[in-house]
Amino acid sequence: MVLKNQNEKEPSLSVYAAHVTITPKQLGETKKIIEKARTDFRIGRRYCHESNNLLTPLLVLSELLQSDTTGTEVSEKFREMGVKSHEVRSRNMDLLSIGKDIPINSKSQATATTNMIIRACQQNLKSHSEIQAILDEIDGKRLNDENSFKDIAKSNQRLKKLTRNTLHLLHRESIEENITSVDLNNLAGETARVMTADPDTARGIEITLGLSPEKPKVKADLDILDEVFINIFKNAIQSCKQRKILHPQLVPEIKISTRVEDGKAVFEIEDNGLGLSAENMARIFQPNFTTKTSGMGLGMPISKRIIENYGGVIKVSSDGEMKGATVTVRLPLHGE
Ligand SMILES: Nc1ncnc2c1ncn2[C@@H]1O[C@H](COP(=O)(O)OP(=O)(O)OP(=O)(O)O)[C@@H](O)[C@H]1O
Ligand SMILES: [Mg+2]
Repeated sequence: MVLKNQNEKEPSLSVYAAHVTITPKQLGETKKIIEKARTDFRIGRRYCHESNNLLTPLLVLSELLQSDTTGTEVSEKFREMGVKSHEVRSRNMDLLSIGKDIPINSKSQATATTNMIIRACQQNLKSHSEIQAILDEIDGKRLNDENSFKDIAKSNQRLKKLTRNTLHLLHRESIEENITSVDLNNLAGETARVMTADPDTARGIEITLGLSPEKPKVKADLDILDEVFINIFKNAIQSCKQRKILHPQLVPEIKISTRVEDGKAVFEIEDNGLGLSAENMARIFQPNFTTKTSGMGLGMPISKRIIENYGGVIKVSSDGEMKGATVTVRLPLHGE
């Protein structure tokens, strides 16, 4: 691994370029590869944080069920599952310990960085499949605590999905996408339903759905497009909640809509939350730009990458601070 120590002074790209004779075009390409690797690294860090968050309940529950079933064959299976989950955690911790903002100065470093993250994710994906196989073998119905078992299965599924999406973002070719015809109305309705099912998430926010009778469809992987939708929706919820703290009288509102416009399938999420200043608007798609204490500043850049990969466009508009925001996604229509 050729990552440099954080304290070492980072040579600038032009200094690096001065030692090797490369054309301006090659320099431009190298710059792009390095920039992508830096973004990939941030995506990797975000993945590790989220994955560790989801792993915690899984570990706690599997240990609990292991002690409840001590000495039985099932207990041994829970132990195996715990070991596999710890492997995932220690891989994540290794990645996280490398440094907050690693200097990546050359093409070979860039490639090594991306490959390292991809490898860790691929190994994690394998661990999640192995955990799934153990869960299938145990068959939760034989346990007294059926609910905990279901929670473990759910956590593992979410981890698998998160890992798969991250891999997709890092290295599109390595992941098999399940491209189907996605009905935007179903996606919007179903995701909004799932997200609002948790009363804490959307408490006090009025959510309205305006779905197009034309039922716009796009060609995409449902799970991956869902991630975009969730990112935008979560931002809207967080923005409304933050504004409500400043303006307790406000009735927070989120409008989700779909439509067909100029031959494109469109989905839009409008909120009456904090809004954006011109300065923040200019930075919204920059990796690591966040105004939240617990944010990673990656939801929007990841969403942009996904949408552009599907030949679409994502746009944010706001009349200014405290005036809400609207995020519009346009994608090629998939005809019947
Ligand atoms: N609907 C919105 N209203 C106001 N500001 C927004 C909205 N959506 C995004 N932003 C601004 O853009 C920033 C970047 O958003 P992004 O989703 O990329 O990262 P984040 O939400 O801060 O962190 P995370 O990586 O967890 O998504 C936010 O911190 C916020 O300042
Ligand atoms: Mg976000």
